[in-house]
Amino acid sequence: MKLINIRKARPGDILSYNIMTETGQIMLRDGMVLSSDYIKKIKYMGINYIYIKDELLEDIAPINPELVKLKAEVVKSFNNMYNRVQNEDLSQIEGINNNVRSLVDFIVSSKDINLVYLSDLKTFDNYTFIHSLNTSLTALFIGKHMGFSRESLVEITLGSLLHDIGKTKIPKAILNKTGKLSSEEFEVMKKHPLHGHDVIFRMPSVSPMARMISLQHHERLDGTGYPNGLLDNEITMYSKIAALSDVYDALSNNRVYRNALPTDEAYDIIVKNTGIYFDPKVVEVFKREFSVYPIGTQVEVTGGMIGYVVKQNRGEQRRPVIRLAYNAIGEKLAYPIELDLKAIDGIKVEKAVV
Ligand SMILES: [Fe+2]
Repeated sequence: MKLINIRKARPGDILSYNIMTETGQIMLRDGMVLSSDYIKKIKYMGINYIYIKDELLEDIAPINPELVKLKAEVVKSFNNMYNRVQNEDLSQIEGINNNVRSLVDFIVSSKDINLVYLSDLKTFDNYTFIHSLNTSLTALFIGKHMGFSRESLVEITLGSLLHDIGKTKIPKAILNKTGKLSSEEFEVMKKHPLHGHDVIFRMPSVSPMARMISLQHHERLDGTGYPNGLLDNEITMYSKIAALSDVYDALSNNRVYRNALPTDEAYDIIVKNTGIYFDPKVVEVFKREFSVYPIGTQVEVTGGMIGYVVKQNRGEQRRPVIRLAYNAIGEKLAYPIELDLKAIDGIKVEKAVV
């Protein structure tokens, strides 16, 4: 399967995975032939990228079905919980704890999991749920590679999932405003970490360290963050991991006020702010373990040839294994050529063609 931007989808393309809602229902099924109406619907739902079948990439399956199932369960229980918090009901959050634990167990025991694109779980109105899930998965992934214990990873994952729970206390008119927030509105918005901390304080099964993530996820190393303008050594490592994960996912997705950045541009913004906003130790792991060009992405390499990413090389963001399919003037090659860019000097991925 290959990963394409929804703008490039054409009637007749065949979907190669299930697109699910946040309640775990299958909305569009693997194998479905896309019509222009379906493509419109997917765009309307805010899905940027989809996986479709491609004969060149029949052997490539970047989506792990077990992970899809675990993510769906976490989003479902988070969705229930979010609605209950909005109604001031803070009981029964144990379900989410169990789901987070299963997710942590799965990620801890898996190798080579492709976490970057999570576009299998979308509806038009669930940005907060998907963003929270992506942030917690990214934080879990980074935490795992920083060597945290399983119990710490549960705290990091749960705390990151709940990082924006304080937004339940922000008026919808501000939360969903399409234009720029006024300075008064922004001041209201900046209170969501404090609200989040208050809400989680009333959930005894969430540890103080996990709770701290909601309070500190907008703090920055140089003191320019909010709500307390904390400095580097005043911010917990859990919160630093969640902060980077939050920003990376927010940049890589459409928001009401701007379009998504390509993942490589989002990656560059994070790296540029090492030591200013983000902790160097967290960025180092992010750089080493994260793949900015997910498997199945079409990319242009040095010299203008076009191919697809088929395997990641750890720590070599722009040097994955690629399957070249088109020459520099856009002609299809008679046979695809597989190249490990790590082993070839002078050729790297220049950009994603999405
Ligand atoms: Fe936030």
